[in-house]
Amino acid sequence: MEIRKKIVITRKLPDPIIQELDERNYRIHMWPSEDDPMPYDKIVKEAAEADALLTNVSDQIDKQVLSAGAKLKIVSTMAVGYNNIDIQEASKRGIYVGHTPDVLTEAVADLTFALLLAVSRKIVEGMAFIKADRWNSWGPMLLTGQDVWGSTLGIIGMGRIGEAVSRRAAGFGMNILYCNRNRKPQAEQQLGVAYAELDDLLTKSDFVVMLAPSTPATHRMLGEREFHLMKPNAVFINTSRGENVDEAALFHALKNKRIWGAGLDVFEQEPITSRHRLFGLENVTLLPHIGSATIATRLKMAGIAVQNIKAVLSGGKPAHCVNE
Ligand code: DGY
Repeated sequence: MEIRKKIVITRKLPDPIIQELDERNYRIHMWPSEDDPMPYDKIVKEAAEADALLTNVSDQIDKQVLSAGAKLKIVSTMAVGYNNIDIQEASKRGIYVGHTPDVLTEAVADLTFALLLAVSRKIVEGMAFIKADRWNSWGPMLLTGQDVWGSTLGIIGMGRIGEAVSRRAAGFGMNILYCNRNRKPQAEQQLGVAYAELDDLLTKSDFVVMLAPSTPATHRMLGEREFHLMKPNAVFINTSRGENVDEAALFHALKNKRIWGAGLDVFEQEPITSRHRLFGLENVTLLPHIGSATIATRLKMAGIAVQNIKAVLSGGKPAHCVNE
């Protein structure tokens, strides 16, 4: 009798997604909580018996996990980013790493723009202002923010999400600069974006949006020097990875009003709590890494993560593979 392959899922996923995995073919070990992560030690232990691991951005899939997984054939992450996975080690061991690009592009671009608007127009402060019963009258300069229409947007990292943000920015009459490891002539032509070196982009932009993936080359690419180059009215948005920014330098730039504000969906260490020093600032809007969090997008991501596993466990390759 053929032994059913074991799939370990590190977070509870919706029933319709799990139903795509026929229990006659697979043994499914799913962590029972949607909100709390499977502890690291448990992942190591489960990996030892697993043929496939369905994981997410909050799990550390390092050498220890991968070397425990003697039978492991695929690590399938429900994310486009995979900086939490030791890709080199996985490749060395012949383990596929699957991910879920494309389906989250528009949702992340929407949230990037939502943060840009929220910070520049003080949306969150406005609601808190009413809630605190501080709204006595219309005021000439009450809750005044920064113009979005006609301003200059600088995008760091012109991949799929960068292009989707550019399309939204065009509707707001923004002048768009971008920097990227290589130039994108097609995007320049189709979206009217202009290439700029990083320092030039930082100096000229009213909004700086970080969308680069987290790699050794982008680690803390924005620090004290870069925040000093930005305009005093600049709003900084990060919906990529916290590791791309020196968070202490960002904190000081915001505290000393070197820049005007920031909207952050990602942090150096996640999760953060209300005791995090960024919470002591008035010029920030902070979100709990929800860039791709629409119902439809998350279901699509989970669906692709499952399909990547099914492809590998039936002898094929994941449709979206990081380490072919
Ligand atoms: C990703 O997919 O990399 C996101 O950050 C998770 O939503």
